[in-house]
Amino acid sequence: MVVNAIFIKNTLGSIMVNGREANMLYHLLYISDFKDDGTYDMDAIVQSSKVYNKNHHITGALWFDGTTFVQMLEGGRAALSAVLGRIMRSDVHQNFEIVFFEPAPERIFSDWSMAYYHASKDEIDVVKKFSVGEGFSPRTMSASSLITFMRYLEMARHVSAVNSI
Ligand SMILES: Cc1cc2nc3c(=O)[nH]c(=O)nc-3n(C[C@H](O)[C@H](O)[C@H](O)COP(=O)(O)O)c2cc1C
Repeated sequence: MVVNAIFIKNTLGSIMVNGREANMLYHLLYISDFKDDGTYDMDAIVQSSKVYNKNHHITGALWFDGTTFVQMLEGGRAALSAVLGRIMRSDVHQNFEIVFFEPAPERIFSDWSMAYYHASKDEIDVVKKFSVGEGFSPRTMSASSLITFMRYLEMARHVSAVNSI
């Protein structure tokens, strides 16, 4: 018998094929400020995102508090690069900042092709504990605080503490 490929699971849980990583999972998180272009339709954006993400094995969440978007996406590197292109084409973003795009050990939103959180003032009061200062200010948060915030959102989804569609 000829063995022509060696498969090893690495510490990140992805499969190494002959020393190369296959299907490595990445986490991408960006922050942007909302710019009302007069035509945006959040429900349509969320619905089309769910379909596209599901078809491309992308999971994640979008937080929108009326001023700022924080979106986390999980999937293969090429898939995330492609969806980033789609997202950045939208005119509703300004001051777009990619906070991280890096290999990750596991999905946080494994059950959600796009969990959408349209936060009310009460919910912003709840999440402001994740950032330093008066209000909720994701741009001042470290990558690890933003991951903690995302884990909180995922948990809150299960106890219905945060609005969602
Ligand atoms: C805040 C925001 C988040 C978005 N997230 C996603 C996403 O997760 N997946 C996706 O495919 N597109 C995403 N988009 C892009 C929109 O879905 C896309 O521009 C819109 O649905 C039009 O796409 P179309 O090329 O199908 O017309 C996002 C756009 C915005 C403004």
